[in-house]
Amino acid sequence: MNMINGRSGHRLMLALTALTSLLIAGCDLPASKAIDQAAFDAGEQLAINGREGVIACTACHGANGEGNWDTGFPRLAGLHPTYLVKQLNDFAGDPLDIGVDLEPIARDYVKTPRIYKDLTIYSPGIRTDAMMNDIGAALTAEEKNNLAVYYSNLAFETSPIPADFQSLERGLDLAQRGKPEYMMPRCDACHAAKGQGFGALFPPLAGQPPQYIISQINKWQSGERNNDNLSMMKNVATQLTAGDKINIAKYYANQSYRVNME
Ligand code: HEC
Ligand code: HEC
Repeated sequence: MNMINGRSGHRLMLALTALTSLLIAGCDLPASKAIDQAAFDAGEQLAINGREGVIACTACHGANGEGNWDTGFPRLAGLHPTYLVKQLNDFAGDPLDIGVDLEPIARDYVKTPRIYKDLTIYSPGIRTDAMMNDIGAALTAEEKNNLAVYYSNLAFETSPIPADFQSLERGLDLAQRGKPEYMMPRCDACHAAKGQGFGALFPPLAGQPPQYIISQINKWQSGERNNDNLSMMKNVATQLTAGDKINIAKYYANQSYRVNME
């Protein structure tokens, strides 16, 4: 960045950012072009004021959906509306709807690092969280839609958090190479370059608090989060060591991220 000086450099950066977000958004642009204003307003009301049985979202997710980087509560601003609704539905899932899920069979046990439990019993399609389960269950389908319209249309920007070189180097390796030895794809294959996210299915990792990244991987490992299509994310999470989680969280927190709604 220091190599480019002055106004032309600034404009170039803006143009590059705009181009990148276009490329990333692809053909699956969020509803930013034609906002359902009534839904947006209703979502905003609920997010800020809450209602009986629903605590205001702003209390935990920040005044503008920016998340809370001290507690590790996730950012909601600029996330894809379909992804937001899916998460709220998954939080609302009935934990008594027990399913049995067998762990994937490793092709080569010698290479399997660890973690595989004998048998995990949990409910497919469910996200367990003490704070969000009741909220998800209390919200109506219309309210979920309104909240998704609201949050997906909020702008957001974060700047890189510095980290030590060793962690960044290892994080980058996981993001861009993965662990081919263990058949673990690189994170960027699904979450896009620099974790910028792709479409409705693959949420951005850049712009999320690092503690949140770690807590979600932990939850996939324990089975508390089990809501990813085709176990795409679970199969990755089970290959990550404690050190990997810290390195990858530091790496993504070191990326800049910007959602511009203008
Ligand atoms: C008391 C704190 C609290 C309140 C209030 C709260 N949340 Fe959350 N929310 C959380 C926490 C903590 C998580 C992370 C849960 C986990 O670990 O799975 C979360 C996660 C989420 C996620 C998933 C984000 C992602 O990237 O997958 C969505 C969506 C969400 N909340 C929406 C809402 C909405 C909408 C409201 C208001 C109606 C709300 N939350 C109110 C604490 C809260
Ligand atoms: C094969 C595709 C794939 C790969 C590779 C992948 N992920 Fe994911 N990941 C997903 C999907 C799909 C979801 C969303 C699941 C859902 O619907 O809730 C997800 C969600 C996540 C989330 C939760 C984000 C949020 O907002 O709640 C984190 C954290 C995450 N991935 C981290 C990683 C890391 C770190 C890597 C690399 C080590 C990685 N992922 C590699 C598919 C993938």
